[in-house]
Amino acid sequence: MITIFYWFLALLCICIFTVADSVAAQTEEPIPIIFDTDFVMPPQNDGLALMLALQSPEIEILGITTVAGNDSVERATSDALRMLEIANWVDIPVYQGADMPLVHEKSDFAVRGYGKWYSNEPPEIPPGGFATKQVEDEAAVSFIVKTVLSRPQEVTLIAIGPLTNIAQAIRAEPKFAENVKRLVIMGGAVALLPDGAGNITPNAEFNFWVDPEAARVTLRSGIPIELSPLNVSRKSALTKDWYEKLVAVDTPLTQLLKDTMGRRFAADPDRKWLMYDQIAIASVIDPTLVTTERLFVDVNIDHGISYGVSVGGRAIWPGAEGAQQMEVQYDLDWPRFVDLFASRIRSPVRGDRVQATFGQ
Ligand code: RIB
Ligand code: CA
Repeated sequence: MITIFYWFLALLCICIFTVADSVAAQTEEPIPIIFDTDFVMPPQNDGLALMLALQSPEIEILGITTVAGNDSVERATSDALRMLEIANWVDIPVYQGADMPLVHEKSDFAVRGYGKWYSNEPPEIPPGGFATKQVEDEAAVSFIVKTVLSRPQEVTLIAIGPLTNIAQAIRAEPKFAENVKRLVIMGGAVALLPDGAGNITPNAEFNFWVDPEAARVTLRSGIPIELSPLNVSRKSALTKDWYEKLVAVDTPLTQLLKDTMGRRFAADPDRKWLMYDQIAIASVIDPTLVTTERLFVDVNIDHGISYGVSVGGRAIWPGAEGAQQMEVQYDLDWPRFVDLFASRIRSPVRGDRVQATFGQ
């Protein structure tokens, strides 16, 4: 009789905890974020990352801040505005940020290599034409600082371009860094961990190389940081099969994918599409998708062969005094990640503020 009573009690506890868990999951507040990006259309990685964020109820985008990187900041702004119209999220404000890195100047190498961060050319016409939605009058750095200070320890920054805006915010307001809840950065490559080569110079990753000084200021700011470097990007590989699953559903977002991914898979059906910025977003939605190691990470700002190279270590080494520890992503649960990514992108667009205008 006593045994039955204890079995009954145990069952009751399990039921209570299960119900409590599911209620907690349903009532959990979305994570307030600022999305800092060197966006271009048709959507590449920043665009796919924004789609994922917009389609995810776990995230609330307080504002999008733009920065020069993949192209000029004017193009980043123009294209981000257009993307929000296509996704029906016109009430998310867009703030224009830095048009050049803190120190790094245009060079022949930059012009020959990837990215037009130094460009003065007017933005290209995005799919469907320029947005009617307008950029905010306030500058990105002012918005970032004001938002963080008005919600101390609440706001997560997700930076998926060069870190110029974030470094300027850190420098502009001494109380800024201590009031940021968390900063998730797509940037860098860590040689200590597998797959740690660079992608713009032998050891430097693009976002850190465009603005090495900003990356160094940011990484030494004291903000709790999670770094999503090339090491973890290289655990991803979106194939043509997955592309076909994405575009099998017709939404304004999947239509856009045909412009970039479609063209590239048509040219090279065997290509593997690396995910960069998308992993940073996914790791905020579900931190169990990535594996991290806590390392000291610093950035080289000598204008020589290692300009913009990030270096990670398990203990401080000479020259890195003052570097801070952060979580460094180095592995990815690809099957779960790609399932999450595909299911969110294939879902009906969540933004329901206005009619879709794509193609008009
Ligand atoms: O090095 C990868 C980074 O550069 C990503 O942010 C991607 O968007 C590319 O521009
Ligand atoms: Ca980017």
